[in-house]
Amino acid sequence: MTMEDDMKRDRRGLLKVAGLVPAGLALYGLTLSAGGATTGGGKLKIGIVGSGRVGGTLGGVWAKAGHEVMLSSRNIEHDRSLAATIGRNARAGTPREAAAFGDVVTISVPYRALPEVGKDLADLIRGKVVIDTCNPFVGRDGEIATWAREKGVGLASAELLPGARIVRAFNAIGYTRMGVAHEQPGRIGMPIAGDDAQAVAVASRLIRDIGFEPVLIGGLAMGKHLMPGTPLAGERAPEEIRRIAATLD
Ligand SMILES: NC(=O)c1ccc[n+]([C@@H]2O[C@H](COP(=O)([O-])OP(=O)(O)OC[C@H]3O[C@@H](n4cnc5c(N)ncnc54)[C@H](OP(=O)(O)O)[C@@H]3O)[C@@H](O)[C@H]2O)c1
Repeated sequence: MTMEDDMKRDRRGLLKVAGLVPAGLALYGLTLSAGGATTGGGKLKIGIVGSGRVGGTLGGVWAKAGHEVMLSSRNIEHDRSLAATIGRNARAGTPREAAAFGDVVTISVPYRALPEVGKDLADLIRGKVVIDTCNPFVGRDGEIATWAREKGVGLASAELLPGARIVRAFNAIGYTRMGVAHEQPGRIGMPIAGDDAQAVAVASRLIRDIGFEPVLIGGLAMGKHLMPGTPLAGERAPEEIRRIAATLD
């Protein structure tokens, strides 16, 4: 078997586990448990590190969808008032409290903050499903953004958040759209990338729960295509994402 065959098989495996291939091809009787998170129907606890435009919006819609969220940043007063505005299922905490609380942790900070966040939360996120929405912009984030872009942002995030089961998602669509996708469930695709099949499955469920259709484009190395300014950026139908993703390597 060639390396290309291996890669195709791995990708097919990921797609199956993520429920992104027809049901008839899916694995039977699969019970998933990824770092405490499962793909069953129950509600999940989601720790959100970075409660700005993206983190705050996602926290709001996940709470509405019935999940429990803990919002965090370096400004607990802001997070308390945001949690009060969201209401049911939302609370505030420190980033470490949010990372400990979450079955899944969503990190949504400026890329320049990722090294510090990775160090501060290292013991708590190791082995956990982490959704990485963060994008490196040289103008905003400085040298770390140049490094991340050269390395490829998915692999860069993996180095900054060691041991976390990272899924890149929500990277190249405006935050306002993240709050309204549930109005037309399944219409908008969400390209995602990750190496850990169970983490991909858990993230896929959370993505579906707020109205997007997840489309796995490959492993974390493919995360480099999930950024503003790339062919996959913007709001696209799932089929269109699949078509574009098939042209990328
Ligand atoms: N805006 C969009 O439409 C969009 C879409 C897709 C992806 N993204 C990406 O997602 C990430 C977040 O974007 P955003 O627009 O939500 O940014 P934002 O509105 O500026 O929010 C960033 C959040 O991170 C917190 N934060 C910063 N440094 C932190 C640290 N060291 N520890 C804990 N929290 C920290 C900030 O609060 P404090 O400073 O008070 O701690 C704030 O809550 C970025 O990497 C961005 O490129 C953005």
